[in-house]
This record gives sequence, C-alpha cells and structure tokens, in this order.
Amino acid sequence: MSESWESTLREETGAWAERHLLRTLIPAQQAGQTVLIREGRRLLNFSSNNYLGLATHPKLGLAVAESASQGVGGVASRLIIGHNEETETLEREIARFKGTEAALLFPNGYMANLGLLSALLKPSDAVFSDQYNHASIVDGIRLSGAQSYRYRHLNLEHLEVLLKRADAKGAKRKLIVTDSVFSMDGDVAPLSDLVQLKRKYNAALVLDEAHAAGVWGPGGAGMAHHLGVAEDVDLHMGTFSKAFGVYGAYVAGKKEWIQYLVNRCRPLIYTTALPPVLVAAIRTSLRLVEAGDNLRRDLHERSAWFRQKLQEAGLSIGGSTTQIVPWIVGESEQAIKLSRALAEEGVLAVAIRPPTVPEGQSRLRFSLMATHTKAEVEQAVAAIRRVAEQGAVR
Ligand SMILES: Cc1ncc(COP(=O)(O)O)c(C=O)c1O
Repeated sequence: MSESWESTLREETGAWAERHLLRTLIPAQQAGQTVLIREGRRLLNFSSNNYLGLATHPKLGLAVAESASQGVGGVASRLIIGHNEETETLEREIARFKGTEAALLFPNGYMANLGLLSALLKPSDAVFSDQYNHASIVDGIRLSGAQSYRYRHLNLEHLEVLLKRADAKGAKRKLIVTDSVFSMDGDVAPLSDLVQLKRKYNAALVLDEAHAAGVWGPGGAGMAHHLGVAEDVDLHMGTFSKAFGVYGAYVAGKKEWIQYLVNRCRPLIYTTALPPVLVAAIRTSLRLVEAGDNLRRDLHERSAWFRQKLQEAGLSIGGSTTQIVPWIVGESEQAIKLSRALAEEGVLAVAIRPPTVPEGQSRLRFSLMATHTKAEVEQAVAAIRRVAEQGAVR
C-alpha cells in the first residue's frame, strides 16, 4: 500500500525540528529600516541585504507611484508584449554601468542563474563551481545536465586539478562560475587568479555579483571592477534586490551571449516580464547607486569596525572582508540559542543552518547597512559581546 502524504511530511519535518533545522516564516515590519519590528519587538536590523539602505529611499517610492499611474502588471512574457521602451532603456543603462556591450533584465537573481546556466551548458560541457556558490547556481547546473565539478571553497589548486581532469575526459567547452562576494561568508573570490586559470584552460567565466553590485567598485559596478578584471568576465550577473533595494536582476556581457540567452533562456522566455513599476524603480535606484560613494564609504567603514570588534572579542568570522560578517558557532542548536539571546538584547541576526551552510558550520549572519548609525553598530557589538560571554561561545 502506498504511504500517506501527511504522515511522511510530518515525520520529515519532525526530524528536522529534532535536529534544530526546522525553518518557520516570521513576519517583520519595517524590514527596510535599521530598526524593524518582529514578534512585537523593536530590533536593530543586522539581517537584511539592503546594504545601502535604498529600499526605503523616497525617490524609489515616487518612481513607483508615477509609473503605477500607467498600470501595474507585467502583462506578458518579454518575447510577447511584456517588453517596453523603458525596459530597453534600463538594459542600455545596465550595459553602460557594467561596461559591457549588452545586458538583459530578469525577474530575479534566482531565475537569472537558473536560466543562464541551463541555457548555456550542454551535457558535453564541463562546469566548475565553487563549493559555496549560491543555490541558484547549483540548481542551474543540475538542470543543464553538464558535467559538474565542484571545487573546494576558493581553492584554485583544486580547481586546476578538476580543469585538467575535464580536459582529459574530453569536455567540449568549459565554464567556471563563482559568487564574487559569498552570501553566507562575506569573503571574496580570488578573481585575478581565476582569470589566469580561465585563460590557461580556455574556459568561460561567469560571475555572480549579487552581494557586490552597488557595494564594491567604482560607482558600485561590482567586485570585478574593484579588482580590475571586469573585461575578463564573460557574463556578469547581479541582482537589484539587495544593494539596489528593489527587485529583479541582470545578466551583462557581449552581444552574442545576450542574444543566445534571449533565444534559449527558459526562465526569461516562459515567464511574465518584470512589472514596469519595478523597472522604473530600478532605473532610479541605479542613478542613486552610481552616485552613492558616500553610502559605500560609510558602509565599508562601519563593516571594517564591526569585523575588527568581533575579532577582538575572539569570535570566529571566517574570511569575511566585506559587509557580510558571519559569527560561526558550529552547532545549529547553539546558533538558534545565540540568535534568541541577541534578540533579547534588541539585535536581529538570524541563525543560518544546514543545508544553507555545511554541517557543523551554523552561524549568525550579520549584514551591515550604510544607514546604520555608529551608535547602532556600537550597540550591536556591545550586545554580541555580552551574549558571547554569557554563552561562553568562542
Ligand atoms: C549569490 C546570490 N545569487 C543569487 C541570488 C538570488 O537573487 P534574488 O534574490 O534576486 O533572486 C542570491 C540571493 O539570495 C544570492 O545570494
């Protein structure tokens, strides 16, 4: 006899709960601010990706309101009638921002990664992906059916071994894909060395700048620009949902690549276009980001100070050098306890557990915002120190 759905679902979720891995949805108000409200509590917000604080910028609201007077919905796929002039203008602006020939707008970053990897890669190709790349990259690779090689985090020696192995097995084409800033670790891919390897092995390089676009590089163009290797990246992917404070994503590169995606990328072809209200907000946000040197300076200053204070307190922040700062504590139960204790102290840092991070590497993930005041960052550090001392977790 076949099993009942309810009993097997209950069994599995029960097992997750026992291992402190159950996830629940908790509403938050004012999540775009540095102080939000969750479960009736006012908490300092160290858990958003709104790095520049733009999600609540009044100009974005005005852009949305103005555009909404013409209607709200995306109405159809880009390839039917969901493609308007403002979208085209935005794509030209993104290409200018990234210094590429062309760019393509996507509904979100997950779909951009899923779509570009599954469209480009064929089973005869080999793809090389950092072990800690985002889930959307992992899923895009799975969907492509390409020969998949996962290299150890940031480990280019391991990558080279795998590149050689793929050549020996006769892979037709090769593609390396990596986050530039890693979302749960806040460390940075060694892009200059990756470029050397991509040249040596005649591979393509695809870069996910989700956590770097807007935050790093001149005018916020991204980590590849910051490190001076933008020209060597074949496809730049990024999202407008984080530092840009809106929603949507882009892929930018040479015209041939973009034209190929327009023809083959299923998450672009078979879904409704991003609504024009969001296109208008993204265009406004892009201008704010490009003019946002002061915001970036504040964010980097606050982040550096925060990292230093956590290290001085003896906490393990891994290899973070950015606005994303993990406090790696190990067991999931401990991460949950510490997150709760911090909330008692008025600070929100959500516990990140497997499968998002490897087993035994559960953590609190802190993310800084340019709009955090110095006093707010100091208050958070004081609370973290108190909680660390009480929890005796080092
Ligand atoms: C590295 C990385 N890539 C892609 C995405 C997906 O972007 P979006 O939120 O726009 O779907 C995320 C978001 O969590 C991310 O961290």
